[in-house]
Amino acid sequence: MLSVVLAESALELVPREIQKSPAVVSDSRRRGAAPSEILLDRSYHHSAMLRLKDAEKRGRPDLVHVTLLSVTGTPLYLDGNVALYVHTCSDQVVEISPRTRIPKSYVRFRGLMEKALRGEPGEGLVRAYSSSLRQLLRNVVVPSLVVGLSVQGRPTTLEAVAGEVAAARQPCVLIGGFPRGHFTGATLGLTDELERIDPRPLEAHVVASRLIYEVEKLQRANR
Ligand SMILES: C[S@@+](CC[C@H](N)C(=O)[O-])C[C@H]1O[C@@H](n2cnc3c(N)ncnc32)[C@H](O)[C@@H]1O
Repeated sequence: MLSVVLAESALELVPREIQKSPAVVSDSRRRGAAPSEILLDRSYHHSAMLRLKDAEKRGRPDLVHVTLLSVTGTPLYLDGNVALYVHTCSDQVVEISPRTRIPKSYVRFRGLMEKALRGEPGEGLVRAYSSSLRQLLRNVVVPSLVVGLSVQGRPTTLEAVAGEVAAARQPCVLIGGFPRGHFTGATLGLTDELERIDPRPLEAHVVASRLIYEVEKLQRANR
């Protein structure tokens, strides 16, 4: 089973320190929900986000949505061979049950994530809980190998990464669920390998779906 963790993802409810900002208040009125109950989204909260720490890495739930769609549409995932987790920048984990169909509509995805992050019982598809990445790996994933993917990593190929992953007993791949910036030192400290699959920074959904495709090809060749 391959575990894929979107790490430090730009998915969170609006944090307390900007809940009274005009951009957030007007968006919450428009949506008919309290500021504490809606996802932080740079498209609507840009001016308020300027005050946030690490703002450039936050407020992009759309990137998480696209990446989850890319992973959950693959044969490897549909066959139940991928365990998928979203670790967020505010140390929550959203666990996606095997074979879950993520809504293609962003509005429905947003509603699903807001409900999960608020701790409301969901439809059994996704469940959120407070957890650091370290706790997630130690208590839930329990990997035998952790490969972090980053432009700051050792240059290699995606085929080689897939080879390492396929050879491991319980492999886990960390992909950044954020738009720019790099993994924190705490995340880097959890990796056994840090690898770069292209000199350019690529979108997380491209990296995730291509990795899975390479693993699928190896599985097919070894059958
Ligand atoms: C949009 S990028 C984040 C930007 C960041 N500058 C970077 O590429 O590391 C999202 C994630 O995709 C993965 N990624 C993107 N380009 C990569 C590359 N060339 N090699 C390995 N992983 C990459 C990393 O996990 C990264 O955190």
